[in-house]
Amino acid sequence: MSDLGLIENGALGIDVASGTIEYAGRYASLDRALLSGKCITIDASGRVVMPGFIDSHTHLVFGGSRAGEFYRRARGESYQEISSSGGGIIKTVAATRQASEEELFSAASSRLAQLICNGTCTVETKSGYGLDVPSELKILSVNRRLQATAPVTVFSTYLGAHLVPVERRDDRDGYVDFVIDQLREVAQAGLADFYDIFVDPLAFTLPEAQRIVAAGSETHLGLKLHADEFGDDGTTAWGVAAGALSCDHLGGIGEAGIAALAASNTVATLLPATMFFSSHGVYAPARRMIEGGCAIALATDLNPGSSLIYSIPLTMTLAVLEMAMSAEECIVAATINAAHALGIADHTGSLEPGKRADVIVIDAPHYEELPYQVGRDLIRDVIIGGRVIKSNGQMQLPC
Ligand code: NIG
Ligand code: FE
Repeated sequence: MSDLGLIENGALGIDVASGTIEYAGRYASLDRALLSGKCITIDASGRVVMPGFIDSHTHLVFGGSRAGEFYRRARGESYQEISSSGGGIIKTVAATRQASEEELFSAASSRLAQLICNGTCTVETKSGYGLDVPSELKILSVNRRLQATAPVTVFSTYLGAHLVPVERRDDRDGYVDFVIDQLREVAQAGLADFYDIFVDPLAFTLPEAQRIVAAGSETHLGLKLHADEFGDDGTTAWGVAAGALSCDHLGGIGEAGIAALAASNTVATLLPATMFFSSHGVYAPARRMIEGGCAIALATDLNPGSSLIYSIPLTMTLAVLEMAMSAEECIVAATINAAHALGIADHTGSLEPGKRADVIVIDAPHYEELPYQVGRDLIRDVIIGGRVIKSNGQMQLPC
């Protein structure tokens, strides 16, 4: 069992000016001087106070809807069949290219507000629905505007290597060259913190990914990968050797990938909401991975095609039911391990003095209730960087 460092009758002191945690310990040992000045007190008696969630893999910025595919999959068509018949990512690319930056910003802001309402205090979001110069830049600039305007920390990832766009299908090498050039430009312009590659028979081959990483490793951007999603492509073992911060999806991961992850600092980010929503049914072998020594993170993979799911608590429910993870493992996976997947564990992901005050209060006496009570909003309070964003079940700010 993961040790959550639970403190009964605990108290948390937050320095609102710096937005950091000043005290985390027993209520009885709290320095009363902290309470004597001007301070706001939140009474969380009988409830659970825990770190805010970190959603380390989303695709928040997109145009249009793929509702039709949702129903087609439910009737038996596969994600791959839909993709090869003109649906899938390419459909969202067309709608995203058409949308204005303002439209994308407004839609993504409202999605972000929903994530926050569900207890998420840090979000990573990718480009990858533009796949040409102006549209990728439009998405990345929305990512940066979200960071500047929303109360959460928003990390931006360049995913030009999401798919080869239709108009470049006869020139794959040329498209990979384009991704490499844009990756360098985006890094220089400060528009991204990470870059990602969808390595898959539908998208990019391992040799193509290797070309991109050869260029990417000369930038300051951290590497993340969509890896071994539907089968064991050997991507994870290579990604670990390439120094990826995280390998994500992993529905088809094999023993070599598991062994490589276990012997590394690369985080295995599992996305059970995707397997559920896309009627794929093959969940990553979380138990084998945990027992083998891999560090597991959980994320929503929020996107219009394979996972229009806004909730880390629901993602935890699926991790319990479909991957046999414990409540403790889920909580670690959606907080401190997710922080490692973004390289930010030194200042967030747990309730420790000096860390950013990203805190949620669960309206239940035990954290086990969180994955167990499905469809009920148990996120009573959300505090991000010391600011109260949701209080007693009510959002306080338009985000
Ligand atoms: O992470 N796997 C690739 N990309 C997304 C799906 C994107 C889409 O279908 O629009 C994912 O699941
Ligand atoms: Fe994804």
